[in-house]
Amino acid sequence: MSKQKQSTQILLGPVPPALIGCGNESEKNIITLAWVGVVNSSPPMITAAVRPNRHSHQIIKDSGEFTVNLPNKDQVELADGCGTLSGRDLNKFEHFKVTAEMGTLKQAPMIAECPVSMECKLEHTVELDSHTVFIAEVVSSYVDSAILDDKGKIDFEKCDLLGFCAGSYLGTKPLNLSIGYTRKG
Ligand SMILES: Cc1cc2nc3c(=O)[nH]c(=O)nc-3n(C[C@H](O)[C@H](O)[C@H](O)COP(=O)(O)O)c2cc1C
Repeated sequence: MSKQKQSTQILLGPVPPALIGCGNESEKNIITLAWVGVVNSSPPMITAAVRPNRHSHQIIKDSGEFTVNLPNKDQVELADGCGTLSGRDLNKFEHFKVTAEMGTLKQAPMIAECPVSMECKLEHTVELDSHTVFIAEVVSSYVDSAILDDKGKIDFEKCDLLGFCAGSYLGTKPLNLSIGYTRKG
């Protein structure tokens, strides 16, 4: 293997291009974020890194909640569009003809058409140089029953969630191995 030295590019991926639902009394919005991560298991917590100039930034900060919705391969245009258009200019739910579905949160909607959704409550906010890191507790998780196997686990043959890495969108196909971690069930 001959590795070429790169500039200090962040090469962590593929990651889901997550569709983040947020809202307040007057509007509901969606922002695509690739910089979403898992940081704690008990309670379950995730991070979402958002640039302060995004329209969604203030909405999340003020409401203290958001949802994380994972798109499948067929929803790549939705993911890309929610990551290039701004809620300042249009209503993305109407523009992309997707459904804002309320769960247990007061303001942040889930996207009914996405196969996986999580509802999150903001716990900590860390301001870094370019991004604000929202650290939030996952308070409920939902999976489309059509993609669950008979043990209630996600069957990745059935859902083909969308991935993203270094500027490219990818599909995610399972390897169907039975080794170590995968055997624990
Ligand atoms: C695949 C993809 C990943 C993105 N990841 C991030 C991210 O992690 N953080 C961020 O601030 N913006 C990210 N963006 C850019 C925002 O989604 C984009 O600026 C969006 O139009 C902001 O929407 P809003 O103004 O309605 O909030 C990403 C865009 C795409 C297409």
